[in-house]
Amino acid sequence: MSGSEADRRIPNQRAHTRSRMSIDEKISKTLNDLDAISPEAIGELFGEVTSALESERKALIAAGAGDGRERSQKVKDLRDRWLARKGGLVSLIDENWLKKAPKELKPAVGRAFNQLRQVATCVDTESLLQEVRVQADVPVRLVAHAGVEFTAEVIRGQDLTLPGYRQPMGSIHPVTQVMREIEDIFLGLGFSIESGPEIESVYYNFDALNIPESHPARDDWDTLYVNSETVLRTHTSPVQIRAMEKHGAPLYILCPGKAYRHDNPDSTHATMFHQVEGLAVDRDISFADLKGTLDYFARKFFGDKIKTNFVPSFFPFTEPSGELSISCVFCGGEGCRVCKESGWIEVMGCGMVHPEVLRHGGIDPERYSGWAFGLGVERFAMMKYDINDIQLFHQGDVRFLEQF
Ligand code: FA5
Repeated sequence: MSGSEADRRIPNQRAHTRSRMSIDEKISKTLNDLDAISPEAIGELFGEVTSALESERKALIAAGAGDGRERSQKVKDLRDRWLARKGGLVSLIDENWLKKAPKELKPAVGRAFNQLRQVATCVDTESLLQEVRVQADVPVRLVAHAGVEFTAEVIRGQDLTLPGYRQPMGSIHPVTQVMREIEDIFLGLGFSIESGPEIESVYYNFDALNIPESHPARDDWDTLYVNSETVLRTHTSPVQIRAMEKHGAPLYILCPGKAYRHDNPDSTHATMFHQVEGLAVDRDISFADLKGTLDYFARKFFGDKIKTNFVPSFFPFTEPSGELSISCVFCGGEGCRVCKESGWIEVMGCGMVHPEVLRHGGIDPERYSGWAFGLGVERFAMMKYDINDIQLFHQGDVRFLEQF
């Protein structure tokens, strides 16, 4: 073999030897040792490094980890292997390839090295933690009778022939149930549902309802003030004005919602409670319409045997005003402790909408008239379910609530 032939074969042999080296071995050598003395060879070498990095990352993601602790360890190991300042593969490439590169190859090696550093951020701790899943998170699909999907964590150590876990069922809160029942009755009569803000202006809560500041009736409502112009609404009646302003007449609305009063809590009073407001405005509406509608409603809600009675009352926003009483649901009208032996229970305030209130709602009282009522939902629920303490509704005691 001539000398020139031998010279030509040595690089080939080196390249052949290089191809059998592991990536770690290659990184421990200089480019010269590896005979990577052209930009193409350097590109090839960095390409191999990048694919090694990528396949190690993918292998870790595919394997996952048994639990959180194992995941942290595996993520740390891979991160340190590549990115540790001392002894990490990227840092060794810097030492062995970049710093020791022949001068003319430095720009090509520098460019490839910078690209590698960017790519290598895919094995930093944060990225890997997001990608490597612990087995308990990996859904394992079992073709079970119910077609339920179990997680590996659930399956491990379980006897799959045992009956399934019972999911505790919630139930609709009795106050919500009663509110919906009332809504349904009025929806059936053609009313629609309106709502308004619970944090209300003094204007809508009082002034527009014909209760000016000086009026003693304001004291009837133990008001919780947010500031001098804003209150937690003391009743749902402000929605009357808002609805009249919004829709004009004719108007048939029901407004269920919360109300707040600074009442001392006892068995019949709560600081937060629910009311349902009803309002009908149309041509030629009379007290007879009010009586007929509320009588129908009471019998639908409490049953056909219920009798109704209207007694005069006073509300600044209705004239005349009344209080609807029903025959006592507990004694059937015979007289008992609850109805104070009278045989009757007052259940809601009502009356013909005051002309001033219609005016505040933008409706001409010469052309239209209307009636309104407001009832307490908790009190209705207490009568319906024979509950003697309003506080039970708001204490969140499951033993009470699960009965409904
Ligand atoms: C009113 O609030 C009037 N806005 C009702 C009304 C509307 C009259 C339209 C005329 C026309 P009153 O203050 O009576 O009225 O309250 C109505 C109902 O809310 C009461 O019958 C009662 O059932 C309920 N209620 C009042 N205060 C409380 C409280 N602190 N806790 C629980 N329920 C209450």
